[in-house]
Amino acid sequence: MTESTTIRWEQDETGVVTLVLDDPNQSANTMNQAFKDSIAAIADRAEAEKDSIRGIIYASAKKTFFAGGDLKDMIKAGPEDAQQAFEFGTAIKSCLRRIETLGKPVVAAINGAALGGGYEIALASHHRVALDAPGSKIGLPEVTLGLLPAGGGVTRTVRLMGITDALLKVLLQGTQYSPQRALENGLVHEVAATPEEMLAKARAFIDANPESQQPWDKPGYRIPGGTPSNPKFAANLPAFPANLRKQLNGAPYPAPRNIMAAAVEGSQVDFETALIIEARYFTELVTGQTSKNMIQAFFFDLQAVNSGANRPKGIEPRQVRKVAVLGAGMMGAGIAYSCARAGIDVVLKDVSAQAAAQGKAYSEKLCAKAVSRGRTSQDKADALLARITPTADPNDLAGCDAVIEAVFEDTALKHKVFQEIQSIVEPDALLCSNTSTLPITALAEGVERQNDFIGLHFFSPVDKMPLVEIIKGERTGDEALARAFDLVRQIKKTPIVVNDSRGFFTSRVIGHFINEGVAMVGEGIEPASVEQAAAQAGYPAKVLSLMDELTLTLPRKIRKESKQAVEEAGGTWETHPAEAVIDRMVDEFGRTGRSGGAGFYEYGEDGKRGKLWPGLREHFAKPGHEIPFQDMQERMLFSEALDTVRLLEEGVLTSVADANIGSIFGIGFPGWTGGVLQYINGYDGGLPGFVARARELAERYGERFTPPALLVEKAEKGEKFSDK
Ligand code: NAI
Repeated sequence: MTESTTIRWEQDETGVVTLVLDDPNQSANTMNQAFKDSIAAIADRAEAEKDSIRGIIYASAKKTFFAGGDLKDMIKAGPEDAQQAFEFGTAIKSCLRRIETLGKPVVAAINGAALGGGYEIALASHHRVALDAPGSKIGLPEVTLGLLPAGGGVTRTVRLMGITDALLKVLLQGTQYSPQRALENGLVHEVAATPEEMLAKARAFIDANPESQQPWDKPGYRIPGGTPSNPKFAANLPAFPANLRKQLNGAPYPAPRNIMAAAVEGSQVDFETALIIEARYFTELVTGQTSKNMIQAFFFDLQAVNSGANRPKGIEPRQVRKVAVLGAGMMGAGIAYSCARAGIDVVLKDVSAQAAAQGKAYSEKLCAKAVSRGRTSQDKADALLARITPTADPNDLAGCDAVIEAVFEDTALKHKVFQEIQSIVEPDALLCSNTSTLPITALAEGVERQNDFIGLHFFSPVDKMPLVEIIKGERTGDEALARAFDLVRQIKKTPIVVNDSRGFFTSRVIGHFINEGVAMVGEGIEPASVEQAAAQAGYPAKVLSLMDELTLTLPRKIRKESKQAVEEAGGTWETHPAEAVIDRMVDEFGRTGRSGGAGFYEYGEDGKRGKLWPGLREHFAKPGHEIPFQDMQERMLFSEALDTVRLLEEGVLTSVADANIGSIFGIGFPGWTGGVLQYINGYDGGLPGFVARARELAERYGERFTPPALLVEKAEKGEKFSDK
């Protein structure tokens, strides 16, 4: 019998075996090769020593219970690894199954996060007790990485809660539940307040259930809620794919489709066959490109970005105690809420006490909603609100160690508000502007301490949007950058760092998406097709509706300023075909977007979006004019990707991870791509394939698709976009 290395066997005098999950080489347990070998040794020993065993407890010596599959391995799996991936998973599953069916009670003592493979170990236990540790999460989030839970997760959740609940509550959204909510939704059986209580409950279960079995191993077991063999259930089955299609809007995410197939097909066969079906669908996903894109972005890039790969080294972390938010409009109100939620005192200043109070009212509304939905307690909501002081008096800003300015988008006004407060706040207060377009270096000229001045670009709605784009001006110091980074993490958002440039990264790149959509309308393509192309490419917002939200006057204002800047620098402004369409919409038809009551869409009295404006067809569409649907989608995707490469060339962007994360979380670049540069990496044929396709688009639709030198060079060298 081999000695297990990542699982310790600890048996007490009463015969209870605790299997302590404790990978000596990693800070968290994962389903790696060592685990596979260990669980096999454990299953052998359990069978050999069965008579001396009274029950088994899975426990963890780490802060988390178990992290899940080993993503470092999975991201490398190519089609040639399919059989190996299949066998690897199957080997682990069969060991868990052997322990599950040993005839002894098996309990999972979930002491922290149990996600993916971790929760699958728990599912292979007869009883699940979760410790109510703060931040502890339970669930099967594989779908968010383009995968499916193939450690028995599909097979067991279907048998635990029925096909419908398994799909909707656990598998398709990848919801991560707190222990309490996991209990309410049937993912665990009990919640314990302390580790001691958790282990006591585990032992109590073993004492009370010496003959314990999984429900699905008991004679006469039926899947709750029925299966397709029941005609009534089968009649509802077509609604599943229909609803899924509606949710995905046609976007190319293969995982939800495979999960649904594995659940439905697996429900019609015996347990062991269901495990094989699940593994086959998993293998297809893990060896495909989408899971690689999503693992890269949502795991590796996100981790790099949040852990401070871009934060200047050697600067002590600092926490903000009291922040001044200047301007209590839409953005200021949201920023105030996010800061107060993170425990920071906020002084919210506007031109009048009334305007400031109105800004605070936004937090009151969000708090009331959170309380009514049970997401927070009244006490916590009251404490949050007590931290926000609305005011019109600059003197109330005394003691603030950070300032975030969110007044109207006007350089002179921004200079004025900083001048008004810079001698009142702490002498070394961090000075931030939430401008979405104005160059930071020029804004900094309005303050005395330019090295403490930095851009902090939030996204709307601030309470929901996870990204903050930090913009370093020419004179911004490393200390200010580190402090801005720390502030963003303090309010639990994700910071990307860019150098100053007109529109920075996010505002500039999203402009290409919009321009491309609008240009297609100008070419005479059916507007509804343009919208559908955006949706099916996986964009969360359709392109013309997004333009309406932002208002058609905004790109005109930005164009005017950018054109002026380009010409002042001695360059020539390159006109984009979208400009003529926007000018006609505004000047000829008076349609300025949603806030003006009319744009590419029609709007009701209540501001609700109606149908596409029929005038679009009348004035722009050329009946019968079509281009390939793939071209429509790729014109949008490529225009953003190509300009991102130019931003790398220009040194505005310095990190690939920042580009990927910023594009997905800030401007809705489709998640299945893994972000705007990973999209290029993962394109069919790699970088050379992308370059060839860009040249084709340039020939058909214009010079703007010509691949930049950096891209061509990387393609020729056989490189990819990567931070290493
Ligand atoms: P808003 O118009 O809703 O709010 C601006 C607020 O500033 C108003 O309440 C106004 O009374 C106040 N204000 C004006 N002068 C002031 C002064 N002297 N002292 C204190 N407050 C004063 O504008 P919004 O949308 O909140 O935008 C604010 C800033 O955030 C702008 O720079 C904008 O470009 C930027 N931004 C906007 C985004 C958006 O989606 N709306 C996204 C990211 C940044």
